[in-house]
Amino acid sequence: MKFEQFTNINELTEWMNIAKLAGLKSTEFVENEVKESILNVTNTNDKNSITNNTINLNIGIAYCMRNQDNKIIGTSFLKQIEEYDSSNQITIFHIAIDETLRGQGLGKQLMNETFKCAKRLKLSFANLYTTTQSNFYLNCGMKKYGEFPDLIKTKQNKKFSRKYLYINLDTIN
Ligand SMILES: CC(C)(COP(=O)(O)OP(=O)(O)OC[C@H]1O[C@@H](n2cnc3c(N)ncnc32)[C@H](O)[C@@H]1OP(=O)(O)O)[C@@H](O)C(=O)NCCC(=O)NCCS
Repeated sequence: MKFEQFTNINELTEWMNIAKLAGLKSTEFVENEVKESILNVTNTNDKNSITNNTINLNIGIAYCMRNQDNKIIGTSFLKQIEEYDSSNQITIFHIAIDETLRGQGLGKQLMNETFKCAKRLKLSFANLYTTTQSNFYLNCGMKKYGEFPDLIKTKQNKKFSRKYLYINLDTIN
């Protein structure tokens, strides 16, 4: 397993095919977001030592997990949302693991690596929201701080609430 910044535009389809498993609202929006993030990272002088001074956190950074054959098997995305995140916070998006590889601890590793990246950016808190996976994120050390009830109705008329979670990055090694 390898975790790294996603910077190869030629693999955008492969990255998107995993990220889509997280239930994207708009594929086109996310594709553009990732393209911008690749430019964001590759335009910095030293992409291996990016800091919050050298990168625009409002554009975001895409990450991927790869298997031994270098195939993308997991995705995550960090982005500071002006409306919600203060300067020491960032939001995590597009967490997904290849369907055939779940239940082996890879999702937890993906979260830990993503937390470490946020910490390296000298941020204090990582946030996210979820409708269906809050227990997974709690298992990864995050804490719930809010819930917006009955937000989403599926075709089956099932209601989901949106749960808001955060982690204090001081607790990450
Ligand atoms: C959520 C997801 C990333 C988890 O990945 P995974 O590789 O299966 O998770 P792991 O094997 O690392 O599980 C880590 C721990 O969380 C638990 N866990 C995993 N999914 C869970 C869930 N949905 N609810 C509760 N616990 C869960 C595991 O049992 C494991 O517990 P343990 O540490 O006590 O053994 C994966 O199921 C996925 O890609 N889902 C579809 C995309 C998605 O829903 N993304 C989130 C959008 S908000």
